[in-house]
Amino acid sequence: MEKELYLAAGCFWGAEHFLKQIEGVTFTEVGFANGNTPNPTYKEVYTDTTGYAETVHLRYDPLRVSLRFLLEMYFKAIDPTSLNQQGEDRGTRYRTGIYFTDSADEPLVRYIMSEEAKHYGLPLQVEVMPLANFYRAEDYHQDYLVNNPTGYCHLPVELFAYARNNRDTVTLEKCERYNLLLRQLSALAEGETDTIALMANTAAMLHDTFHFWWTGFYRVVGDELLLGPFQGPVACMHIAFGSGVCGTAWQQRHTLVVPDVEAFPGHIACSAASRSEIVVPVYDGDNVIAVLDIDSQHFATFDDCDRHFLEQLVVLLSPA
Ligand code: SME
Repeated sequence: MEKELYLAAGCFWGAEHFLKQIEGVTFTEVGFANGNTPNPTYKEVYTDTTGYAETVHLRYDPLRVSLRFLLEMYFKAIDPTSLNQQGEDRGTRYRTGIYFTDSADEPLVRYIMSEEAKHYGLPLQVEVMPLANFYRAEDYHQDYLVNNPTGYCHLPVELFAYARNNRDTVTLEKCERYNLLLRQLSALAEGETDTIALMANTAAMLHDTFHFWWTGFYRVVGDELLLGPFQGPVACMHIAFGSGVCGTAWQQRHTLVVPDVEAFPGHIACSAASRSEIVVPVYDGDNVIAVLDIDSQHFATFDDCDRHFLEQLVVLLSPA
């Protein structure tokens, strides 16, 4: 199954030449995306009044290259903090943008953007939005730098070698797996109103995918947390409000990432094998109705990626 993506990265001659050299990219073409006029020509787009961005349409084999790797490469070819200018090329047609056709890609794209933003002191100017429209540019713009090796390009030639010489080694890493789970769980959750049934399958999916030590839910019942659907060894059944990691996440109403459970005051050791833990509250409106608790046998297993995606997963469990 091939996937596709549309990337605006300034002048499309260089952007296409760069992106097409990445292992796993199977097709590229250049054109104009997300503008306002029908069938734009290069000359019209050049006036900078059509709203179009010079864009590379690419297809890729997700078993050979991940979306994350593609975007990491993309960020090497742009200045993401620059608005409407890449190199010496200025205008809205040279803006940067990630335009997706599969809405299931969006959470991962936004997560990668948030990770990338940590490297800069300035806000990122890269648009992230669904593809609204795309028109292929005239033939002489296609493969321009292959046909005109000495042609103008705002990208340094070393970058092309970089794209050729680096390949994705892990095609499905943690965040990508979470992204797939998110898609699976939304399909399962559609039309399902029983939260406990959904919790059971959520615990099963997470546990099966990541092989955590313990994956499950505690539900708020009366004034305490009561053991809910889970996968893994036998666990404590009752946890008081404010007690342990679970009761504290409920009390504080936010996710707790605990890299070393021994260092967490009041941690409840249901199993001596647990080393690190993440607890994510599940809401119904404003009320915490449960917590998702995951334990690992290793220290510091959980990071921002787990937090980001688990928080999105539990939204699917809230009674509508
Ligand atoms: N460690 C948790 C208790 C639940 S078990 O990990 C399954 C806590 O401190 O709340």
